[in-house]
Amino acid sequence: MKNKIEQIRNEFIEQLAQAKDNEALRELELKYLSRKGEFSEIMHGLKDVNLDLRKELGELANSVKLEMQAKFEEARQTMESYGKKSEFVDVTLPGEKLANGHLNPITLVQNELEDLFTSLGFIIGDGPELESDYYNFTALNVPPLHPARDMQDTFYIDSKNKEGQYDLVMRTQTSPVQIRMMQKYGAPLKAVIPGRCFRNEATDARHEHTFYQFEGIMVGRDINFSNLKSFLEIVGKRLFGPSTELRMRPKFYPFVEPGNNGEYTCFLCRGKGCRVCKHTGWLEIVGAGLIHPDVLRAGGIDPDVYSGFAFGFGLTRLAMLKYSINDIRLFNTGDIKFLEQF
Ligand code: DAH
Repeated sequence: MKNKIEQIRNEFIEQLAQAKDNEALRELELKYLSRKGEFSEIMHGLKDVNLDLRKELGELANSVKLEMQAKFEEARQTMESYGKKSEFVDVTLPGEKLANGHLNPITLVQNELEDLFTSLGFIIGDGPELESDYYNFTALNVPPLHPARDMQDTFYIDSKNKEGQYDLVMRTQTSPVQIRMMQKYGAPLKAVIPGRCFRNEATDARHEHTFYQFEGIMVGRDINFSNLKSFLEIVGKRLFGPSTELRMRPKFYPFVEPGNNGEYTCFLCRGKGCRVCKHTGWLEIVGAGLIHPDVLRAGGIDPDVYSGFAFGFGLTRLAMLKYSINDIRLFNTGDIKFLEQF
């Protein structure tokens, strides 16, 4: 009987070492440790032997059973942790795509314009969004109380200067940076200035309090209106394709003389007339003109020696045209569904 117990123990340990999976473990448990297993049979047989021997064998059987149970438990746990570690990883599966940010449509158009103008030898300038009344208006030939100030409904900042006047505004245009660039770099100068502007608009699908412009100036000796015209023609063809034509119509802007609106062949209908160009065949794209002598003077440049032209695009408007966006307010909503389309 003693031998039998030892034999069962050894067999069990041997088989346990060979058990490769949970299935094998379960079979061993059934065979040796369950109520109907080999060990229970032995315990059963004990009732037929005499008392002393029964006691001795009983103790032996118990301790062997405990040992077997402990070994079994150990093997089960090892199998479990091994199972976790060896979870199958298919390294050939495509990786998980990380959600990547992308550029705002206004930035896309801005980049395109910057590429175009730097290729024509322009530098890119920058100026403050909170601007002085002087740079935003006075230096641009719009003195205090001049009626031209009414063209742009302005956000004034609630702080007064020593003379008791409100002198800080959210810039209504990128044009004040013309003056800053002239003061900083002098003549000759070729610069473009993209940036955000603000006006007190009653917002609707075409008007917004916050929008982007793209300004440009070229200052040098003998720069005249035909230079401006040929330049705007080049820009139009680069922006909207080689068959694009330019027409210039007079328009008043206080900082240029003469001032005009540059219109390009509608790139959608190619001049035939459609909803986007309001059936005229032309798109109003750029305000431009020859820089007013007072503006050159405010920039520290002598108008008797130098002349120049200036132009200003509505960057937001260009993005709307290019991507067929029919409501300007979408740009400021931060709506991911809108932004993800570009
Ligand atoms: N600043 C003008 C506006 O906001 C646009 C403009 C017109 C800019 C003519 C210019 C220019 O530089 O010459 O409406």
